[in-house]
Amino acid sequence: MKVIAHRGYSGHYPENTLLAIAKALDADCDGIEIDLYRVEDTLVVIHDSDVSRTTNGNGLLSQFSLQQLLQLDAGNGESVPTLWQVLQLVNNQCLLNIELKGADTAELFLQELAHAEQQLGVNPGLLLISSFNHHLLRLIQQHRPDLKLGALTASLPLDYAAFASALGAYSINCDKDFINEALVQDAHRRGLEVWVYTVNSVQRALQLQQMGVDAIFCNYPAEARGWLQAGN
Ligand code: G3P
Ligand code: MG
Repeated sequence: MKVIAHRGYSGHYPENTLLAIAKALDADCDGIEIDLYRVEDTLVVIHDSDVSRTTNGNGLLSQFSLQQLLQLDAGNGESVPTLWQVLQLVNNQCLLNIELKGADTAELFLQELAHAEQQLGVNPGLLLISSFNHHLLRLIQQHRPDLKLGALTASLPLDYAAFASALGAYSINCDKDFINEALVQDAHRRGLEVWVYTVNSVQRALQLQQMGVDAIFCNYPAEARGWLQAGN
């Protein structure tokens, strides 16, 4: 089972910062997950539409200019990174799961990816683009059918993984509180991987491994690798 560092190594370092991402790269993880919003014409890596929880600022992200946002402290003196900085840092060393949060991120992401492929040599095969907003995923798919898509859900849908198949997704990315064996089996029958967020306990990680889940998102990626090795 793959271990994906959730918001970087966010259990020990400030989430979605370059520090947390660098520490995740040092840890034995298979991939790193980040969250994306747009501020002006730049894609920035932050989880909430309000800066208050994760920075020393207050208020809605939409009230900040890019310059103001980048001056905030996101923890340990780190600033909110741009997607470009993250792509430079990760440098194709592992899989990068980019979760589109803002409804206005998809077109800009496609433009930026094209530049990053040319200028940074980003390998699109190492990206998984996910979102709870499946309209954004459809738009990405229309323009870049080569990209892997992760169809996020926070529910147990009546028709299980059918919606993810309809999107042409690579994986269904599920909440740990709603996953069950029927969903895993339905996804696998459809050729989809099953990734589960956010799994921070050894018992839950081992249960999900037993269930045949393909990847877990964890705030403690190095610890999770240890749990899984000890459980085998
Ligand atoms: O992509 C998995 C997980 O990050 C989805 O939920 O709220 O942590 O972004 P959230
Ligand atoms: Mg996320």
